[in-house]
Amino acid sequence: MINLGPLDKKNSEWMLKCRNHPSIMKWCRQVEEIPYEHHWRWWDKQDQDESIQMYSIYADGGIVGVCGLTSIDRVNSRAEFSLYISPTYQGHGYAKEALKLLLEKGFYTHNLNSIWGEMIDGNMAEKLFLSVGMKHEGTRRSFYYKDGVYRDAHLYSIMREEYDLLKCNDSSKYLVPPGPYVESVSDGELLTEGEWRSSCDEETGSSFWTRYYDQKGEPEDK
Ligand SMILES: CC(C)(COP(=O)(O)OP(=O)(O)OC[C@H]1O[C@@H](n2cnc3c(N)ncnc32)[C@H](O)[C@@H]1OP(=O)(O)O)[C@@H](O)C(=O)NCCC(=O)NCCS
Repeated sequence: MINLGPLDKKNSEWMLKCRNHPSIMKWCRQVEEIPYEHHWRWWDKQDQDESIQMYSIYADGGIVGVCGLTSIDRVNSRAEFSLYISPTYQGHGYAKEALKLLLEKGFYTHNLNSIWGEMIDGNMAEKLFLSVGMKHEGTRRSFYYKDGVYRDAHLYSIMREEYDLLKCNDSSKYLVPPGPYVESVSDGELLTEGEWRSSCDEETGSSFWTRYYDQKGEPEDK
Protein backbone atom coordinates (compact mmCIF):
# COMPACT_ATOMS: atom_id res chain seq x y z
CA MET A 1 0.00 0.00 0.00
CA ILE A 2 1.46 3.32 -1.19
CA ASN A 3 0.82 6.64 0.48
CA LEU A 4 2.31 10.14 0.46
CA GLY A 5 3.33 11.98 3.61
CA PRO A 6 5.26 15.11 4.53
CA LEU A 7 9.05 15.13 4.32
CA ASP A 8 10.58 14.00 7.59
CA LYS A 9 13.97 15.35 8.76
CA LYS A 10 14.95 11.90 9.92
CA ASN A 11 14.99 10.77 6.26
CA SER A 12 16.93 13.75 4.94
CA GLU A 13 20.30 11.96 4.70
CA TRP A 14 18.62 8.98 3.05
CA MET A 15 17.18 11.41 0.51
CA LEU A 16 20.56 13.00 -0.19
CA LYS A 17 22.06 9.54 -0.74
CA CYS A 18 19.31 8.74 -3.25
CA ARG A 19 19.70 12.05 -5.08
CA ASN A 20 23.43 11.43 -5.40
CA HIS A 21 23.08 7.83 -6.54
CA PRO A 22 24.48 7.63 -10.12
CA SER A 23 21.34 5.92 -11.49
CA ILE A 24 19.13 8.75 -10.21
CA MET A 25 21.53 11.66 -10.77
CA LYS A 26 21.83 10.62 -14.40
CA TRP A 27 18.21 11.62 -15.04
CA CYS A 28 18.10 14.80 -12.93
CA ARG A 29 19.14 18.30 -13.87
CA GLN A 30 22.01 18.31 -11.36
CA VAL A 31 25.43 17.97 -13.00
CA GLU A 32 27.41 16.95 -9.93
CA GLU A 33 26.85 15.46 -6.49
CA ILE A 34 24.77 17.68 -4.23
CA PRO A 35 26.90 18.72 -1.25
CA TYR A 36 25.46 18.28 2.23
CA GLU A 37 25.13 22.03 2.88
CA HIS A 38 23.28 22.63 -0.44
CA HIS A 39 20.87 19.88 0.52
CA TRP A 40 20.09 21.62 3.84
CA ARG A 41 19.70 24.96 2.11
CA TRP A 42 17.18 23.33 -0.27
CA TRP A 43 15.46 21.66 2.69
CA ASP A 44 14.86 25.03 4.44
CA LYS A 45 13.76 26.64 1.18
CA GLN A 46 11.16 23.99 0.34
CA ASP A 47 9.90 24.18 3.91
CA GLN A 48 9.10 27.89 3.58
CA ASP A 49 8.37 28.28 -0.12
CA GLU A 50 4.68 27.87 -0.95
CA SER A 51 5.47 27.16 -4.58
CA ILE A 52 7.08 23.84 -3.57
CA GLN A 53 5.15 20.90 -2.07
CA MET A 54 7.28 17.82 -1.49
CA TYR A 55 6.11 14.41 -0.26
CA SER A 56 7.76 11.25 1.02
CA ILE A 57 6.55 8.11 -0.73
CA TYR A 58 5.80 5.31 1.72
CA ALA A 59 5.24 1.65 0.85
CA ASP A 60 3.84 -0.39 3.73
CA GLY A 61 5.04 2.28 6.15
CA GLY A 62 8.68 2.58 4.99
CA ILE A 63 10.07 5.38 2.81
CA VAL A 64 10.83 4.28 -0.78
CA GLY A 65 11.08 7.59 -2.63
CA VAL A 66 10.23 11.25 -2.89
CA CYS A 67 7.93 13.20 -5.18
CA GLY A 68 6.65 16.73 -5.35
CA LEU A 69 5.07 19.65 -7.11
CA THR A 70 7.45 22.51 -7.81
CA SER A 71 7.18 25.92 -9.49
CA ILE A 72 3.53 26.00 -8.38
CA ASP A 73 2.05 28.89 -10.32
CA ARG A 74 -1.21 30.10 -8.73
CA VAL A 75 -2.01 32.53 -11.55
CA ASN A 76 -1.96 29.86 -14.25
CA SER A 77 -2.87 26.99 -11.88
CA ARG A 78 -0.04 24.77 -12.98
CA ALA A 79 2.99 23.05 -11.49
CA GLU A 80 5.91 20.87 -12.45
CA PHE A 81 6.21 17.41 -10.89
CA SER A 82 9.31 15.53 -9.79
CA LEU A 83 9.72 11.97 -8.61
CA TYR A 84 12.33 9.39 -7.74
CA ILE A 85 12.29 5.95 -6.18
CA SER A 86 15.33 4.61 -4.33
CA PRO A 87 17.21 2.13 -6.58
CA THR A 88 16.58 -0.52 -3.88
CA TYR A 89 12.82 -0.27 -4.41
CA GLN A 90 12.52 0.31 -8.16
CA GLY A 91 10.52 -2.05 -10.39
CA HIS A 92 7.69 -2.74 -7.92
CA GLY A 93 5.15 -0.35 -9.41
CA TYR A 94 5.68 2.21 -6.62
CA ALA A 95 6.35 5.14 -8.97
CA LYS A 96 3.12 4.60 -10.89
CA GLU A 97 0.99 4.54 -7.73
CA ALA A 98 2.86 7.51 -6.25
CA LEU A 99 2.45 9.56 -9.43
CA LYS A 100 -1.31 8.94 -9.42
CA LEU A 101 -1.49 10.10 -5.79
CA LEU A 102 0.58 13.16 -6.66
CA LEU A 103 -1.83 14.03 -9.49
CA GLU A 104 -4.73 13.68 -7.02
CA LYS A 105 -3.00 16.12 -4.67
CA GLY A 106 -2.21 18.53 -7.48
CA PHE A 107 -5.68 18.59 -9.00
CA TYR A 108 -7.91 18.22 -5.95
CA THR A 109 -5.88 19.61 -3.02
CA HIS A 110 -3.95 22.36 -4.79
CA ASN A 111 -6.67 22.92 -7.37
CA LEU A 112 -4.32 22.96 -10.35
CA ASN A 113 -5.42 22.96 -13.96
CA SER A 114 -2.32 21.31 -15.41
CA ILE A 115 0.70 19.39 -14.23
CA TRP A 116 3.81 19.05 -16.35
CA GLY A 117 7.17 17.34 -16.20
CA GLU A 118 10.41 17.13 -18.08
CA MET A 119 12.49 14.10 -18.91
CA ILE A 120 16.00 13.84 -20.32
CA ASP A 121 16.11 11.88 -23.57
CA GLY A 122 16.67 8.14 -23.09
CA ASN A 123 14.93 7.84 -19.72
CA MET A 124 12.58 4.85 -19.69
CA ALA A 125 10.30 6.83 -17.36
CA GLU A 126 8.38 7.92 -20.48
CA LYS A 127 6.36 4.70 -20.23
CA LEU A 128 5.46 5.63 -16.68
CA PHE A 129 4.30 9.13 -17.62
CA LEU A 130 2.15 7.88 -20.51
CA SER A 131 0.66 5.16 -18.30
CA VAL A 132 -0.91 7.76 -15.98
CA GLY A 133 -2.42 9.70 -18.90
CA MET A 134 0.28 12.27 -19.61
CA LYS A 135 0.83 13.45 -23.16
CA HIS A 136 4.10 14.32 -24.88
CA GLU A 137 4.05 18.08 -25.43
CA GLY A 138 7.27 18.55 -27.29
CA THR A 139 11.02 18.37 -27.22
CA ARG A 140 13.60 20.94 -26.18
CA ARG A 141 16.49 20.14 -28.47
CA SER A 142 19.98 19.70 -26.97
CA PHE A 143 18.67 21.39 -23.84
CA TYR A 144 21.00 19.91 -21.21
CA TYR A 145 24.74 19.33 -21.26
CA LYS A 146 25.08 16.09 -19.31
CA ASP A 147 27.96 13.65 -19.14
CA GLY A 148 29.83 15.39 -21.94
CA VAL A 149 26.97 15.57 -24.47
CA TYR A 150 24.01 17.79 -25.24
CA ARG A 151 20.77 15.97 -24.54
CA ASP A 152 17.22 16.63 -25.66
CA ALA A 153 14.56 17.14 -22.97
CA HIS A 154 10.99 15.95 -23.49
CA LEU A 155 8.02 17.71 -21.93
CA TYR A 156 4.90 15.87 -20.72
CA SER A 157 1.70 17.18 -19.20
CA ILE A 158 -1.81 16.30 -18.15
CA MET A 159 -4.81 18.63 -17.71
CA ARG A 160 -7.26 18.25 -14.87
CA GLU A 161 -10.06 17.63 -17.35
CA GLU A 162 -8.12 14.75 -18.90
CA TYR A 163 -7.42 13.27 -15.49
CA ASP A 164 -11.08 13.58 -14.45
CA LEU A 165 -12.06 11.76 -17.62
CA LEU A 166 -9.59 8.94 -17.04
CA LYS A 167 -11.08 8.47 -13.60
CA CYS A 168 -14.61 8.52 -15.00
CA ASN A 169 -13.79 5.87 -17.57
CA ASP A 170 -12.19 3.61 -14.99
CA SER A 171 -15.61 2.27 -14.05
CA SER A 172 -14.18 -0.24 -11.59
CA LYS A 173 -13.25 2.63 -9.28
CA TYR A 174 -15.24 5.68 -10.34
CA LEU A 175 -18.84 5.04 -11.26
CA VAL A 176 -19.96 8.65 -11.48
CA PRO A 177 -18.33 11.70 -13.02
CA PRO A 178 -17.07 14.51 -10.77
CA GLY A 179 -19.85 16.92 -11.77
CA PRO A 180 -23.44 17.19 -13.14
CA TYR A 181 -24.07 14.73 -15.95
CA VAL A 182 -26.51 13.75 -18.71
CA GLU A 183 -26.71 10.66 -20.90
CA SER A 184 -27.08 10.72 -24.65
CA VAL A 185 -27.23 8.46 -27.71
CA SER A 186 -24.44 9.11 -30.17
CA ASP A 187 -25.71 10.48 -33.50
CA GLY A 188 -23.44 8.43 -35.69
CA GLU A 189 -20.14 9.63 -34.23
CA LEU A 190 -17.96 6.69 -33.32
CA LEU A 191 -17.48 6.76 -29.58
CA THR A 192 -16.38 4.16 -27.10
CA GLU A 193 -19.52 2.82 -25.54
CA GLY A 194 -20.17 4.36 -22.16
CA GLU A 195 -17.35 6.89 -22.51
CA TRP A 196 -17.69 10.10 -20.48
CA ARG A 197 -17.01 13.41 -22.20
CA SER A 198 -16.89 16.81 -20.58
CA SER A 199 -18.89 19.54 -22.33
CA CYS A 200 -19.68 23.16 -21.79
CA ASP A 201 -23.11 24.81 -21.84
CA GLU A 202 -22.55 27.72 -24.21
CA GLU A 203 -25.34 29.82 -22.66
CA THR A 204 -24.42 29.49 -18.99
CA GLY A 205 -20.73 28.65 -19.39
CA SER A 206 -21.08 25.82 -16.87
CA SER A 207 -19.50 22.46 -17.62
CA PHE A 208 -21.23 19.12 -17.44
CA TRP A 209 -20.48 15.50 -18.35
CA THR A 210 -22.13 13.39 -21.02
CA ARG A 211 -22.02 9.63 -21.25
CA TYR A 212 -22.57 8.44 -24.81
CA TYR A 213 -23.77 5.11 -26.13
CA ASP A 214 -23.91 3.95 -29.70
CA GLN A 215 -27.36 3.38 -31.23
CA LYS A 216 -27.43 -0.28 -30.20
CA GLY A 217 -25.70 0.10 -26.86
CA GLU A 218 -27.35 -0.69 -23.58
CA PRO A 219 -26.63 1.83 -20.82
CA GLU A 220 -24.58 0.33 -18.05
CA ASP A 221 -25.84 0.33 -14.45
CA LYS A 222 -24.40 3.08 -12.32
C1 LIG B 1 11.50 6.48 -13.16
C2 LIG B 1 11.35 5.85 -11.78
C3 LIG B 1 10.69 6.85 -10.83
C4 LIG B 1 10.49 4.58 -11.93
O1 LIG B 1 10.30 4.01 -10.63
P1 LIG B 1 9.72 2.53 -10.44
O2 LIG B 1 9.11 2.43 -9.08
O3 LIG B 1 10.77 1.56 -10.77
O4 LIG B 1 8.60 2.49 -11.57
P2 LIG B 1 7.35 1.50 -11.61
O5 LIG B 1 7.81 0.18 -11.05
O6 LIG B 1 6.17 2.14 -10.97
O7 LIG B 1 7.13 1.37 -13.16
C5 LIG B 1 6.08 2.02 -13.86
C6 LIG B 1 6.11 1.64 -15.32
O8 LIG B 1 7.21 2.26 -15.98
C7 LIG B 1 8.11 1.27 -16.50
N1 LIG B 1 9.47 1.68 -16.14
C8 LIG B 1 9.82 2.54 -15.18
N2 LIG B 1 11.17 2.68 -15.15
C9 LIG B 1 11.63 1.88 -16.10
C10 LIG B 1 12.93 1.56 -16.58
N3 LIG B 1 14.03 2.13 -16.05
N4 LIG B 1 13.06 0.70 -17.61
C11 LIG B 1 11.94 0.13 -18.17
N5 LIG B 1 10.70 0.39 -17.77
C12 LIG B 1 10.55 1.24 -16.74
C13 LIG B 1 7.77 -0.01 -15.79
O9 LIG B 1 8.01 -1.14 -16.60
C14 LIG B 1 6.30 0.15 -15.51
O10 LIG B 1 5.53 -0.21 -16.64
P3 LIG B 1 4.37 -1.36 -16.49
O11 LIG B 1 3.34 -0.74 -15.54
O12 LIG B 1 3.89 -1.56 -17.87
O13 LIG B 1 5.09 -2.53 -15.89
C15 LIG B 1 12.73 5.41 -11.20
O14 LIG B 1 13.39 4.60 -12.15
C16 LIG B 1 13.62 6.58 -10.84
O15 LIG B 1 13.59 7.06 -9.71
N6 LIG B 1 14.44 7.04 -11.81
C17 LIG B 1 15.36 8.16 -11.58
C18 LIG B 1 14.66 9.50 -11.47
C19 LIG B 1 13.76 9.77 -12.67
O16 LIG B 1 14.09 9.45 -13.79
N7 LIG B 1 12.60 10.40 -12.41
C20 LIG B 1 11.65 10.72 -13.47
C21 LIG B 1 11.96 12.03 -14.11
S1 LIG B 1 11.42 13.34 -13.04
